[in-house]
Amino acid sequence: MKLIILLLALTAAAHADRHFNPQHRWNAEAIDNIVFIHNKLRNAASHGLWERHSISKSSNMQLLSWNESLVAEAENEKYYCEPADNKNLPIKLGDNIYQYDVNTYDDIDGVGAMGSINKDTHDALKSEAKAAKNRLRQMLYSKSKSIGCIYESCDKIDSKGINYNTRLLICKYSPPLENIDEKLFDKGEPCSNCPSGTSCGTDPNEMMKLCK
Ligand SMILES: *[C@@H]1O[C@H](CO)[C@@H](O)[C@H](O)[C@H]1NC(C)=O
Repeated sequence: MKLIILLLALTAAAHADRHFNPQHRWNAEAIDNIVFIHNKLRNAASHGLWERHSISKSSNMQLLSWNESLVAEAENEKYYCEPADNKNLPIKLGDNIYQYDVNTYDDIDGVGAMGSINKDTHDALKSEAKAAKNRLRQMLYSKSKSIGCIYESCDKIDSKGINYNTRLLICKYSPPLENIDEKLFDKGEPCSNCPSGTSCGTDPNEMMKLCK
């Protein structure tokens, strides 16, 4: 009898929570891809490639590296399967949520995630949508040094019913943007004003002039 009650309680809890799915960790290959696209975009901005979008060259943009503590923090928070741009969700500084479509179990290597971050960032350059602009601001926050991301596979509910094909990519940044209007970076030639304790990275990829 007790078991039945327990099962009923569990079923009820699962039902109430049906838009919450357990989070998943990215594998090593996906981590490399996610970190790489972030640094590629930061590098592009710091080199002045987005000057026509009023984003000037930056002298103190830092290289991001992976941070397992941030992954653990993200795992301890509940992210619901709401659309990433749901206007009713409060903006949480330090968290970026990207949303993209997948076939049920694909994007193991994070290539889809990489494409989603790239597209979202480029779209934000031309868009006035607040959520996208805010993601762009965190992306370009020079003081952030590390990143940790997880993902959720969500049910996408459309007019035709339910498809299991939306993924939420949830990234946390450290240190986070603390105020949405905070200055993102100092203007100047890339790497010309690296914060103390850092110097210009000597990435084998010559393109990457980020402080680390
Ligand atoms: C990693 O994240 C934690 C926050 O969870 C932060 O305290 C720590 O400084 C970060 N490490 C680096 C190298 O950014």
